Amino acid sequence: MVCLGNICRSPLAEGIMIEKLKKYNIYFQVDSAGTGGWHVGSAPDKRSIKVGTENGIDISNQVCRALVSEDYEEYDYLFAMDTSIYKTLYERSPSPEYLNKLKLICDINENYDGSSDENMDVPDPYTGEINDFRIVYRMLDLLCEKWAEKLINNHSK
Ligand code: 4NP
Repeated sequence: MVCLGNICRSPLAEGIMIEKLKKYNIYFQVDSAGTGGWHVGSAPDKRSIKVGTENGIDISNQVCRALVSEDYEEYDYLFAMDTSIYKTLYERSPSPEYLNKLKLICDINENYDGSSDENMDVPDPYTGEINDFRIVYRMLDLLCEKWAEKLINNHSK
């Protein structure tokens, strides 16, 4: 799960995805990172911790880290929280062979006409208020639910 600072969106995405995958009896490694390194070593933003707690998800033990090139090898999927992060992930890929691992986290919603919401972003709540974090939480909850199902389906094929 990748965002800009790894203190607001991706820590929540990590915590939510771990929770969603718990009900399946398959081991998945889930982690998060930021494309920027300003907050490395810090705990998640207090507001993310708060909305996590409101929803029964404890992310308070997470420690912020920056994306490293080894992540492209280590993980099967790298989920970008928005289109700008996706672009950075694309540009920093150590090799073209990893590009099919890059996913925009919003690119799962199928519309009635078969198109997807691929240009939708999980909005950066950093300069916002607690309600902006609640909106982020609700988006990530729905998105991770759908991705978890998809990952499990892909895994069992
Ligand atoms: P995030 O939010 O990418 O969801 O963790 C941000 C956190 C920090 C900054 C920007 C976005 N920052 O500029 O420090």
